[in-house]
Amino acid sequence: MVPWREAWHEALYGARGFYRRVEGPAGHFTTSTHGPLGAVLAAALGRLADREGVSHVVDVGCGRGELLHHLAAGRPDLRLTGVDVVPRPAGLPDAVDWLRSPGGAHLPDALADLEDVLVVAHEWLDVVPCTVVEVDDGGTPRTVLVDAAARQEELTGAIDPGDAAWCAEHWPLDDLSPGTRVEVGLSRDRAWLGLVGRVRRGVLLAVDYGHTRDARPPAGTLVGYRDGTAVPPLPDGTCDLTAHVAVDSLDQDERTTQREALRALGVTADTPPLDLARTDPAGYLTALASSSAAAALTDPNGLGAFHWVLRRV
Ligand SMILES: C[S@@+](CC[C@H](N)C(=O)[O-])C[C@H]1O[C@@H](n2cnc3c(N)ncnc32)[C@H](O)[C@@H]1O
Repeated sequence: MVPWREAWHEALYGARGFYRRVEGPAGHFTTSTHGPLGAVLAAALGRLADREGVSHVVDVGCGRGELLHHLAAGRPDLRLTGVDVVPRPAGLPDAVDWLRSPGGAHLPDALADLEDVLVVAHEWLDVVPCTVVEVDDGGTPRTVLVDAAARQEELTGAIDPGDAAWCAEHWPLDDLSPGTRVEVGLSRDRAWLGLVGRVRRGVLLAVDYGHTRDARPPAGTLVGYRDGTAVPPLPDGTCDLTAHVAVDSLDQDERTTQREALRALGVTADTPPLDLARTDPAGYLTALASSSAAAALTDPNGLGAFHWVLRRV
């Protein structure tokens, strides 16, 4: 039996970890970086780079480079770098640099001294393993231990002092009912600070699903994904393991929803004028696809509710 944070790390980033599989994350779930949504998101991130006056985009936890493909196509003037746990994927545009990372909370040494950079971490922090605490039947919070082989959890772990201090500040453990689960954000805060420390001048953007202190999820959010379906979280390397991010505890200068952030970057779901269908049918169809991608990305009940956390250096 080991704490969830350890079992989770091994399950995703160990030698036979889930994220080392050839099919990559896109083989199991869809994100905003894929397909037509990815093209609209990449264009908006290009405008964010312009707004911040930077010329290099580093995508940390970039999967197989989906967002970078869109950026390379639409913004050949930007320098691009992808970072993930696998070797450089075949078919990545030549102009894109690639760094291989250890995974989870750890980053490659070569990712350092970044200047004039926009660092994007799109759905990275939710897969940085964290401690899971559960309140036992007697009302005492315990670190949850897990045994992948036996498919069992045990509430016998003491709470690490660092995790306890984080909880006291961001997710108090007093008076929680038995069964309440707390996903401790300390490891995500530290991983994010580690990434901030790699930048000399620039801006970092974390995009993720998460929660703030006014609405922490009492039942926990840890879940697995495999082949497009949510599955019970089992730390055996057969599925993704993800938990929502306590976005308000991350070191930050600005935080907003994806909906507001994209609107401020000029993404609108306005449909193209019908006249265009007569004068330029292909252009009309392209504009229509962009407008429905923009609608999906800014849907307040869907992707638009994702958090955008910005930190400038
Ligand atoms: C949920 S997927 C998101 C992929 C992509 N950003 C997207 O939104 O489609 C998380 C990705 O982060 C990668 N990852 C996790 N920890 C990492 C680290 N420390 N350095 C680089 N990549 C990491 C995983 O291998 C995986 O490809």
